[in-house]
Amino acid sequence: MRAEEWNERYEAGRQWSAEPNALIAALLSGLPPGEAVDLAAGEGRHALWLAGRGWRVTAVDFSDAGLERGRGRDGADRVAWVPADVRTWSAPPASLDLVLVAYLHLPEDDAAALFPRTVEWLRPGGRLLVLGHDVANIEHGVGGPQEPSILHSVERLDPVAALLDVDRLEQVPRRTPAGTALDTLLWGRRKG
Ligand SMILES: C[S@@+](CC[C@H](N)C(=O)[O-])C[C@H]1O[C@@H](n2cnc3c(N)ncnc32)[C@H](O)[C@@H]1O
Repeated sequence: MRAEEWNERYEAGRQWSAEPNALIAALLSGLPPGEAVDLAAGEGRHALWLAGRGWRVTAVDFSDAGLERGRGRDGADRVAWVPADVRTWSAPPASLDLVLVAYLHLPEDDAAALFPRTVEWLRPGGRLLVLGHDVANIEHGVGGPQEPSILHSVERLDPVAALLDVDRLEQVPRRTPAGTALDTLLWGRRKG
């Protein structure tokens, strides 16, 4: 989807969620705070949550309307809000302790180009967390985009996992009011 389409969604008042995803919160709550980027942050639910736990967070998204909603929330002044396309935006090499990419769904080539770049931004031992809709969700889950080419899978994330010391690379269920959705999780550390 283009930035204009995301702007329309956010302007129509459709909120992804104000709360962090439960799995993301569980994985990140044990980490000491550091420097983080929330890539495709939308309204910044994770950026705001991290900032509230002492992280220095940059929230990047190409939807001005999404970022505007984030800027309106409590604690927003603790987050750096950056309007940018994640396909061209960059952090300095080895500058981050965490890159979070939650429910960003790009065409396959764009995703394949982006994820290895995110690893370069991490300090040795820094964490990459990718969570998003799994391709199997179309047939066996609920909700989410229905276009297979933009969805995640363990196989599609394998090349970026090869650049990391991987703690988890797997399909994970997520309970929703409409039923169980299927996500893909990649959780690993930069080698070195
Ligand atoms: C489903 S929302 C997820 C937002 C947030 N990560 C969360 O979990 O609440 C997807 C977000 O990706 C953003 N997005 C999609 N493609 C993008 C791109 N190429 N550059 C920057 N942001 C993008 C959209 O604007 C939208 O805010």
